[in-house]
Amino acid sequence: MSIDTSVSPRGIARAGLLPRDLALIALFAALIASLGFVAIPVAGLPVPIVLQNLGVLLAGSILGWKRGALAVIAFLALVSAGLPLLSGGRGGIGVWATPSAGYFVGWIIGAAVVGFLASRVKANSKSGFLLLLAANVFGGVLLVWLTGTVVSTFFTGVGLVPTWAASLIFLPGDLAKAVIAALVAQGIQRAYPVPPAGVRRGEEA
Ligand code: BTN
Repeated sequence: MSIDTSVSPRGIARAGLLPRDLALIALFAALIASLGFVAIPVAGLPVPIVLQNLGVLLAGSILGWKRGALAVIAFLALVSAGLPLLSGGRGGIGVWATPSAGYFVGWIIGAAVVGFLASRVKANSKSGFLLLLAANVFGGVLLVWLTGTVVSTFFTGVGLVPTWAASLIFLPGDLAKAVIAALVAQGIQRAYPVPPAGVRRGEEA
């Protein structure tokens, strides 16, 4: 008989995560869930304007690639298990068979890419804010937009170009969320930097 050690302290350590990292992952999964109170339907589009992607940007920008992606995965796992945590109180495995599915995949990739790029930015530098903003726009807006629109065409049967044109409506809000995420990430990096995953406070390089 084999024993599953994947969630044992040793398993966590092997994944390069400390108990503090697990707490941060849970905290940001909860943050994403808490932003589910906003869902603005858009005429002609199967996907609403939401605020939950701001939580995804914050997770990547503040936690880095691994913990950021894991926070999104934890949130989506809870949704898939049936918890009504998506905007509008939706949940269940069926959400993966909707036009939103590609956005959910994009959220995981986006958090990882934003986290990877943001962790290389020195927030105190002159260009710190602009680089954090660029990381958020590239990973958290453009990549999510790409995966989301491509997958949604399979569900709607609407062509890629009209889908892209229609989803331009998301752009102003998503750019504003990228600005907020970059500002918050810069402020936290300056005032109370979060140690990298697996690194105890005071042991940073
Ligand atoms: C849902 O809850 O079903 C929708 C999730 C995806 C919404 C995407 S995220 C990027 C873009 N910006 C928004 O405000 N909405 C879409």
